[in-house]
Amino acid sequence: MSNEINDDDDAITPQGDAAASSGGVTVGGNVGGNIIVGDHNTIVNQYPAPESFLHQLPAPPHDFTGRKTELDELTKAVDRGVTISGVQGQGGVGKTALALQLAQKLLPLYPAAQFFLDLRGVSDSPLTPAEAMAHVIRAYRPNERLPDDDGQLKAIYQSVLHDQKALLLMDNAKDKDQVLPLIPPHTCCLIVTSRQHFALPGLYTQNLEVMSSDDARDLLTIIAPHLTRHDSRITNELASLCAYLPLALRAAASTLAEEIDLDPADYAKQLRDEKTRLGLKGVTATTGEISVEASLNLSYRQLSDEAKRVFRCLSVFPADFDAQAEDMICEDGKHKQLSELVKRSLVNYNREKKRYWLHDLIRIYSKSLLSVEQKNAITLRHVDYYLKLFIADEDAAFRTDAINLSEASAWLSGLEEKMDLTNEGHRDVQWAIKMFQASLRIRFDDTPENPQETEQA
Ligand SMILES: Nc1ncnc2c1ncn2[C@@H]1O[C@H](COP(=O)(O)OP(=O)(O)OP(=O)(O)O)[C@@H](O)[C@H]1O
Ligand SMILES: [Mg+2]
Repeated sequence: MSNEINDDDDAITPQGDAAASSGGVTVGGNVGGNIIVGDHNTIVNQYPAPESFLHQLPAPPHDFTGRKTELDELTKAVDRGVTISGVQGQGGVGKTALALQLAQKLLPLYPAAQFFLDLRGVSDSPLTPAEAMAHVIRAYRPNERLPDDDGQLKAIYQSVLHDQKALLLMDNAKDKDQVLPLIPPHTCCLIVTSRQHFALPGLYTQNLEVMSSDDARDLLTIIAPHLTRHDSRITNELASLCAYLPLALRAAASTLAEEIDLDPADYAKQLRDEKTRLGLKGVTATTGEISVEASLNLSYRQLSDEAKRVFRCLSVFPADFDAQAEDMICEDGKHKQLSELVKRSLVNYNREKKRYWLHDLIRIYSKSLLSVEQKNAITLRHVDYYLKLFIADEDAAFRTDAINLSEASAWLSGLEEKMDLTNEGHRDVQWAIKMFQASLRIRFDDTPENPQETEQA
């Protein structure tokens, strides 16, 4: 294309890069009047923004289910005047789906434009803030040669959005450094989703957890309605095997909807196998079809080697745990890596109880990354830690972990499967486990046994 200034009426027509690079004048469309910017004397003219680029929002899933509380809280925050909302949480938990549903709800308030950008935060090549800004600017000025200077680019970004009632949905943010330069003027609304927890001035965050059991069951039966003709316990079991994770729920329900001769009870049996559950394949707005395992792998491969090591070790905890136990068992000084994993939504944290836990599917995934030797080594450290704690101060053991008999017993009964305890070298652990088992029963007053007999058994 060539650009020329028409002498008759001062109208400016679009022109290509050649003139700019040779010191000529480059012209593009603008909503805010004529300005001159950049090294190349770019003249920006007042053209109406092309309609086709201004309304980019994909529709939310047509079967969007639940999330009423989260949607209400996010909407109320926008009503209060919050202009940046963050939806943060683990992969596949439904951040994009919720953000799209929220955007749809807010659409009447932001009629001028709605942008959708995948910031590719968990990929090897996240969008730079400059690329993200360019995406928005080009919707208004498709023919403009943009300046290389970030400061100038930001000025144009702010200018095109100035006084606009525009909504920007930036999906999959990497971190706050990526988002900070993209904060739009106050007339706009920015919704950011991320697997990473971060804070920004003026950012209202909604931490998204897995679905409630009711919503999970609803989603399963909306996608696979024939489930309602079966015993409701099957739907409950399916929801629980999917650990209430929307990605897994959609995958399981879609399989049942597509494979019409697959009996739901048989399918539930298949899903009891951990590997089968990790292999569940759902569809997301940005990745297309993806398995639970591959979705988690996107987060895992971004970790430092040390964080990876600690993440793998965490699979040893069958239930929730405290920072002290993790620090000792996973050799994670001052639980630094644990905090990093919380930040990246691979570990959950309960502020009131000050305890951490892994989502079921994340624990299965973490365990799948351990070799047999690593599994045995970490299990020994786990046993050793609790036994020492137990022997030193029985009460302390129960204050810091194992809250009830079933939790403690589940942990103990899993031990012999996890490890080859017939090995001579593990005799001390075998003995300690038996003592511990007997003491647990006494402590919880459950068919008391003589620890001495158990030891000899
Ligand atoms: N409330 C919901 N109702 C119906 N389907 C949902 C809901 N939430 C999530 N889903 C479905 O679950 C799958 C995963 O959701 P989504 O892509 O939003 O997860 P995400 O948290 O954005 O994951 P990622 O971190 O990988 O981007 C999608 O198929 C989506 O349609
Ligand atoms: Mg997403």
